[in-house]
Amino acid sequence: MWLNRDMEKLNASAIRSMAAVQSLCSDVVNLGIGEPEYTTPQNIIAAGKQALDDGFTKYTHSAGMPALREAIAEKLRRENGIAASPEEIAVTIGGEEAIAALLLTALNPGDEVIVMDPCFPGHLGTVAVARGTAVKVQLREENGWHLDIDDLKNAITERTRVILYNTPSNPCGAAASREELEGIAQAAMEHDLLVITDEVYEKIIYDGREHISLASLPGMDQRTASVFAFSKTYAMTGWRTGYCVVQNQRFREQFLKVHQNLVSCANAPAQRACIEALNGPQDWVRETVAKYQEARDMVYDGIGRIQGISCVRPEGAFYAMINVSQLGSDMDVAMYLLKNHGVRLIPGSGFGDGGKGYLRLCYACRTETIREALSRMEKGAAELLALR
Ligand SMILES: Cc1ncc(COP(=O)(O)O)c(C=O)c1O
Repeated sequence: MWLNRDMEKLNASAIRSMAAVQSLCSDVVNLGIGEPEYTTPQNIIAAGKQALDDGFTKYTHSAGMPALREAIAEKLRRENGIAASPEEIAVTIGGEEAIAALLLTALNPGDEVIVMDPCFPGHLGTVAVARGTAVKVQLREENGWHLDIDDLKNAITERTRVILYNTPSNPCGAAASREELEGIAQAAMEHDLLVITDEVYEKIIYDGREHISLASLPGMDQRTASVFAFSKTYAMTGWRTGYCVVQNQRFREQFLKVHQNLVSCANAPAQRACIEALNGPQDWVRETVAKYQEARDMVYDGIGRIQGISCVRPEGAFYAMINVSQLGSDMDVAMYLLKNHGVRLIPGSGFGDGGKGYLRLCYACRTETIREALSRMEKGAAELLALR
């Protein structure tokens, strides 16, 4: 068969496997898939519709519409402390295409990429597609799922080229502190590494914390490729739009060729909607993040009341990693809860070995949905505890 051996080894996402089982169950409360339950704000939808009515249906510049890149440059200056020109920005097909194209640009076969464990499965997948070797750094619940810089340093070898780092984190819910980022920056500078920062949850951060972009730290602008997306901030997952900032000219020139050869450009009418997302009112984002924070509190308090399970208080993104190790394996517990109680969570092992014994819960939904899920989880956990 005309199949590539390396691509045959790619894992089907645990998220999608649970979806297949869900299709066989009725009355399911779905806290599995990682996207907002809300629809895109109306002003953004209207801008996308208007673009279609205007016949804005052709290819754009490969790096994205100039007006969008200008709006992004302005936002980066205002909110991320990144002084990038529009030429240093490329609009991509979501954050995921940016990461894939950056890795394809950076890696030669067998080069090592440091990834977190657990991590967003797309990180492992894109490293594999780019023929890199993923080297995992364990994140631990007892550290609040924060990176221990000594673990990072110990993972670096002479084959390491890239650190792929995500904050706020899917699936762990941790938001990096300045000290953590300074540790990453120091390691990258010492070993001449590129850091790809996955900042798609930059706006979804709680309790007054500040999201810090690594590229804004001294000495990091030339060795950071910062990835952002419209997907999570504006509930635009299906529009497939994101962007990356690459200030290192030599690397950017190569990256732009890879991006162009892969996709030509991002969806044209969606780019017009993205201009409205950035330049229009931001009240929806503020209100929605406040709802996520309320949902976070509800999940954290609710899990704390259920015997046999626990979780660390999430600091950002919209996920909690629920420790279910007292009840059984994460796969068995996820299947039990889905089949017997109609509540869908994702087994942590789908995010790497570091996720074994946990279930990822996505709380980007209405409080009624969470209340119902918690009540079903409480019943399921009591039954599983009684069986042990
Ligand atoms: C950490 C992380 N990075 C990247 C992505 C992909 O983002 P996009 O939908 O913009 O491609 C996701 C989506 O779930 C994610 O959780």
